[in-house]
Amino acid sequence: MSPILSIDHVGVRFGGLVAIADLHFDVQAGEIVSLIGPNGAGKTTAFNVMTGFLKPSQGEVRFRGTSLKGLQPHDITRLGLARTFQRTSVFPDDTVFDNVMIGLHRQGASGGAPGMARASLLDTLLGRAGASEQALRARAAALLDWTGLGGRAREKAGSLAYGEQRLVGVALALATDPAMLLLDEPVSGMNASETRVFVRLLRQIRERGITILLVEHDMPMVMEVSDRIVVLNYGRLIAEGPPEAIRSDPAVIEAYLGQGSAARRAAAEVREAACA
Ligand SMILES: Nc1ncnc2c1ncn2[C@@H]1O[C@H](COP(=O)(O)OP(=O)(O)OP(=O)(O)O)[C@@H](O)[C@H]1O
Ligand SMILES: [Mg+2]
Repeated sequence: MSPILSIDHVGVRFGGLVAIADLHFDVQAGEIVSLIGPNGAGKTTAFNVMTGFLKPSQGEVRFRGTSLKGLQPHDITRLGLARTFQRTSVFPDDTVFDNVMIGLHRQGASGGAPGMARASLLDTLLGRAGASEQALRARAAALLDWTGLGGRAREKAGSLAYGEQRLVGVALALATDPAMLLLDEPVSGMNASETRVFVRLLRQIRERGITILLVEHDMPMVMEVSDRIVVLNYGRLIAEGPPEAIRSDPAVIEAYLGQGSAARRAAAEVREAACA
């Protein structure tokens, strides 16, 4: 079986700093894989390479067998690889509904005016673009219901609690109809019960056939949802395997112990999960 995503010996340098060194791993279609590591390990940098926001100094990324070399972020989104951002990236002054509509228009964007996504020139000439707009609105409503934001549709995205804004980011990414979704710390800012709901959503996303690569510091969650975990430290892959192997891996525990307080907490959680 060929992987849906291949990170092929990718390296990234920022001046003298090696942010990622010779990173090499695959994700198979249908998997939930987590990419973890202490602060500054290179996780977001890896996402930026995979989604065309950053050109690697070495190596390449392949998605569904296609090299992503030289492609722009919107090209990559169109191939079916979507992402969320570590920092909230909603349009704060637009309603939650309009945020998702923007995502849907982006998916169909072909240089047409808003409302014309996916409408052919003929549709437009015959005045049938409205039907397509209606279909998009129905899809936006369905997406909001699915992500649990249905009741928030009319509110400005910027007025939502931080955890809910993260969900809007997920809805925006899902609006592009991806085959694979990269999530950068989706539950940061969510409380325990919101996180539980999010774990259910993650599983539903996977059940719909969307492959997931997750960056997250919430170790109990990572251990619970992941089929496989890839661990980075100082830009290098230090461990890769199923959760049971990762939680007792001395190199992983050591990597977290050497870091700041958040990472120490994560290390404690890794050990607690191991004892549970
Ligand atoms: N644009 C940039 N210019 C210079 N250095 C950068 C840039 N982006 C990231 N870095 C550095 O690259 C390293 C990896 O950063 P990155 O943001 O990928 O880490 P991370 O694993 O996502 O960390 P966190 O868990 O804190 O989000 C860090 O040392 C960071 O300071
Ligand atoms: Mg990051």
